[in-house]
Amino acid sequence: MRLFLGLPLPLDFAEALARTARATGIANARWIPAENIHLTLVFLGSVAEERLPAIVHELDHIDPPPLRLRVTNFGTFPRAGVFFAEVEPAPVLLQLQTQLVAAMTRCGFPQDDRPYHPHITLARVRGTVRLSSRQVAIPLSAARSFDVNCVNLYQSRTLSEGARYEVLAQRPARTC
Ligand code: 2AM
Repeated sequence: MRLFLGLPLPLDFAEALARTARATGIANARWIPAENIHLTLVFLGSVAEERLPAIVHELDHIDPPPLRLRVTNFGTFPRAGVFFAEVEPAPVLLQLQTQLVAAMTRCGFPQDDRPYHPHITLARVRGTVRLSSRQVAIPLSAARSFDVNCVNLYQSRTLSEGARYEVLAQRPARTC
């Protein structure tokens, strides 16, 4: 099973972000459908099904705070052909991500060597993608902030019609 921990976006925010992203006019882009748009916190990769109970058990001990997050601009991983919205690395988000990494380390997942770079993938692009300064900017009129009220464990499946993300477990955020 291909698994990852992530945050869902409210659908109306994801739809608006997807529309703003398309308006950049990036060529050769395969746009992610709004219902698939999410923020990855920890990528677990291919995992044997027997490990699922331990992952869910660790997740049960996480008490996520309610999060209000903000996208700042568009960006790319040029060689990987990924076009994304950059997410402000708010301390509360980084703390939650660090907590989840520690929880997953306890159930045997090695830590990623690369520093966490919060981003919301919006398109996969064929060839090297470079943005102009106009394309990097999210227009002032666009919504930038969104609320998150749970952490999800997702299973990612590749189907003929594209990727499908199924929620296998969910930790609701505590209410203030
Ligand atoms: P991405 O948004 O940068 O593409 C489901 O595939 C999620 O897991 C995506 O959000 C994707 O990140 C992330 N993901 C896929 N492969 C990954 C990898 N090798 N390392 C880290 N994250 C990965």
